[in-house]
Formats: sequence, C-alpha cells, structure tokens
Amino acid sequence: MSAPKVFITGASSGIGKALALQYAAQGATLGLVARRGELLETLQAELNCPCMIFTADVRDAESLQRAANTFIEQFGLPDIVIANAGVSAGTLTENQHDNQTFQAIFAINVFGMVSTFQPFIQGMKQAGRGQLVGIASVAGIRGLPGAGAYSASKAAAISYLESLRVELAPSHIQVTTIAPGYIRTPMTDVNAYPMPFLMDVDVAAQKFVKAISKKTRFVVIPWQMGVLAKLMRLIPPALWDFALRHAPRKAHANWDWL
Ligand SMILES: NC(=O)c1ccc[n+]([C@@H]2O[C@H](COP(=O)([O-])OP(=O)(O)OC[C@H]3O[C@@H](n4cnc5c(N)ncnc54)[C@H](OP(=O)(O)O)[C@@H]3O)[C@@H](O)[C@H]2O)c1
Repeated sequence: MSAPKVFITGASSGIGKALALQYAAQGATLGLVARRGELLETLQAELNCPCMIFTADVRDAESLQRAANTFIEQFGLPDIVIANAGVSAGTLTENQHDNQTFQAIFAINVFGMVSTFQPFIQGMKQAGRGQLVGIASVAGIRGLPGAGAYSASKAAAISYLESLRVELAPSHIQVTTIAPGYIRTPMTDVNAYPMPFLMDVDVAAQKFVKAISKKTRFVVIPWQMGVLAKLMRLIPPALWDFALRHAPRKAHANWDWL
C-alpha cells in the first residue's frame, strides 16, 4: 500500500508518537488523537505530511465520533485505525480507593478501544476494506501481581480484538493485535525494576508498522517476549504462582493522574 491514511489514538507520547513519525516518513495522511493538545500541536509542526489533530479523551465516545467524521470529511476513510491510547498503574483490590483506578484503566484501555473503532466500521464494511489495530500487552497473557487492573484490561483487549477479527473477516476488514513487551516510553521510564528485552520506541514502531503492513493477526514485539509469552501460556497455575511470588510490581497509582 502506498502512503496510507492512518488514524492513531495516544499519539502525544511514546509508541503512538513514534508510529506517527514512522507513517509520516512514508508520506502517510494522519489523524492524531490525545488529551494533551499542546503535544499534538508540537508533533504536527514536526511532520511533513497531511495531518489533523484532535484533542480528545478516548473515554468520550462522542468526541471520537466527531473526530472520525471530521477526518473522513477531510481525507476520506482511513486505511488503518490504531487504538493505542492506554494507561498503566499498580492497583490492589483490597484498597477501596483503587476502584476509581480500576474503572479508569478499563474505560481507557478497553472501552476507549471500542469507541475508537466504532465510528469507522460501517464505512469500512461498505468499502469492503480497512484495518483495525489494537495495542494490547504481554501483561494481558497472564495475571501480573499488583497490576490486576492493567493485566485484566489487556486480557480483555486481546479477547475483544480476537472477537472483532472473526466478526469482521467476512467484510474484508483486517484486525491486528499487537502485544508489546517492554518498550522504552514514559510509561516504562517510571519502572524501577529490570525490564527484559527492553526495546527503543523507534525500533519498536518500525516493527509495528511492518507487522501492520503484513496484516498480521497477532504479534508480540519484541520476538524474544513472544517466545516468553508462548511459555507463559503453558505454565500451570501453581507454577505461575510460585514463579511470580516475588515479581516486581508497578508503582501504585497517584490519584491525580485520572
Ligand atoms: N511501553 C510499553 O512497554 C508497553 C508495553 C505493552 C503495552 N503498551 C501499550 O502501548 C500503548 C502506548 O503506551 P506508551 O508506552 O506509548 O505510553 P505513553 O508514552 O504513556 O503514551 C500513552 C498515550 O496514550 C494517551 N492516552 C492515555 N489516556 C488517554 C485518554 N484517556 N484519552 C486519549 N489518549 C490517552 C496519552 O496521551 P495524553 O496523555 O496526551 O492523553 C499518550 O499519548 C498503551 O496502550 C500501553 O498500554 C506499552
């Protein structure tokens, strides 16, 4: 495909920003979404390609619908929609004040993905083409201690994307699930523990773009994490519990990040 039209959420930082830069280098037409509009403006100024930016929260389905309509009016139907926006924070079920964090993580990582794809599906069905890409995580393969909300949200994303893939196959719409391992971004910069196979975000974005162009159904990046993910799936629960009993934990949420 030459110079695709790509709509990306969570483009103000990390993986989403790196994807925008990769696609811009290919001469793509971009629609970029995030809450921090000033970061999107700075990025837009750097990009030498047709680009619209939308300051929106993926929890606000109406804002995403408006952004999608505006993008389609201006540029036509996108070839690729990437639901990348996501948040991560440590949570503990015994803390009642973590309920808000559980809800926010699910609202952004799961329902935000649904609301990102929804405005495009009817048009893609009519056109008989299009690709929806969801950024999940290796954290969704098995439950990680101290990250119940994040792990569960990414497990939900993986299953949701699989349902969608089968549902939309007859309409010639491809669904790609990317489950990253550790990628160097502001999300992982705060982790004070060793991160195996940590990958630079620019290298990761190149690999994501390649997997997307091949219309891969499911991929773990980097590949070494993919091998680990396959093993993780095979480990029986008792062995998993033993192996993870001292696993490092994501820092607990601050209440002002919501
Ligand atoms: N880095 C890793 O190792 C890793 C591993 C596995 C999976 N992932 C997944 O990869 C995706 C990108 O993460 P990242 O590492 O690039 O983190 P990041 O640098 O923190 O970027 C997260 C992006 O999501 C956006 N976002 C967050 N909440 C949003 C909301 N409510 N509405 C709209 N946009 C929102 C942020 O923009 P604003 O704050 O401006 O809204 C930002 O652009 C996430 O889904 C994450 O779970 C990352």
